[in-house]
Amino acid sequence: MNSRPARQCIADAVVESNVSVCQGHWRFVLRADRFPECLPGQFINILCRDRATEDETPDGPARLSGPFLRRPFSIAELRRQGQTTWMDIIHHLIGPGTAWLAARRPGDRVNILGPLGRPFNVDPATRRAVLVAGGIGIPPLLWLARTLTEAGVSPLLLYGVRSASVLPLAIDRQAVHRGRSLAPTQSVIELRRFGVPALLCTDDGSLGWAGLVTEALAGLWEERAPDSGTCVYTCGPEAMMGGVAQTCAARGVPCQACLERVMGCGLGTCQSCVVKVRDPGAPAGWRYGLCCTDGPVFDAQSVIW
Ligand SMILES: Cc1cc2nc3c(=O)[nH]c(=O)nc-3n(C[C@H](O)[C@H](O)[C@H](O)COP(=O)(O)OP(=O)(O)OC[C@H]3O[C@@H](n4cnc5c(N)ncnc54)[C@H](O)[C@@H]3O)c2cc1C
Ligand code: FES
Repeated sequence: MNSRPARQCIADAVVESNVSVCQGHWRFVLRADRFPECLPGQFINILCRDRATEDETPDGPARLSGPFLRRPFSIAELRRQGQTTWMDIIHHLIGPGTAWLAARRPGDRVNILGPLGRPFNVDPATRRAVLVAGGIGIPPLLWLARTLTEAGVSPLLLYGVRSASVLPLAIDRQAVHRGRSLAPTQSVIELRRFGVPALLCTDDGSLGWAGLVTEALAGLWEERAPDSGTCVYTCGPEAMMGGVAQTCAARGVPCQACLERVMGCGLGTCQSCVVKVRDPGAPAGWRYGLCCTDGPVFDAQSVIW
């Protein structure tokens, strides 16, 4: 799981299913033929419009049926059988691209480019993993959780959302502790199959641990210091990831963060996705990295938060 797979493709994928999973969030499954090898943390760039309806007319250029630029999305789960690949995408509806995606129906075609970016790195010395997700940062960590268990690493998911109404996963609510219990349980149904425990946190206390996921991580490690061989993987709001990086630095625990930027090309060309990273060799001690090609996964201690 260490190096970035080299091949990319542009493909017309078929929508297998598309369902609303909670307020403002959708999960759809794409089926693609001969999709290249890829790893958790990588993303695809989706053309969120229908090119078939955009032929030029005698009166001039056609109106686009959606945004001109592709939109980046993490792969939340990936399965393969023979030459066929199924990919799950979970998204939050915030603008024209995600509105177009939410309106897709089974059988529709969606043009994708990928896989793009650098995946998470799993060091062979890693024995335990803590996955810290916030909001719509959950998708890449779901696929990573399964991949880690298959590699013999024991993951624990800490997942924070504002409120239970915007939690885009199927939850066994009977299994969730309420209030201030930091005991993880098998509450996330799709992870239960792989034996991955989870601690759910809500800012408003409507489900699970009442408080920020960053406080839950610090609290867990106050109760019991992290074992050697622990690695943290995080994805979510930038302030959350910065807090996770700080807690990890204080404990000497390695941490990888999957960042988001507004992306134009996803291919390292347009320079729209810069991230400030430490570089002792640079005159100012830092330089700009590109989220799309140097990331989206970065060593959290290299990022200037
Ligand atoms: C590597 C990567 C992986 C991503 N994975 C997912 C995912 O799995 N699920 C998901 O829901 N979203 C994901 N995103 C974010 C997703 O790409 C945007 O939400 C999407 O492009 C919005 O498109 P839109 O046309 O609906 O809205 P737009 O009109 O493009 O955006 C609406 C508003 O959101 C802001 N915005 C758009 N993109 C971003 C961004 N990346 N960071 C901060 N603000 C932004 C815009 O500035 C604007 O204010 C990912 C982004 C990156 C870079
Ligand atoms: S999105 Fe164009 S350079 Fe990163």
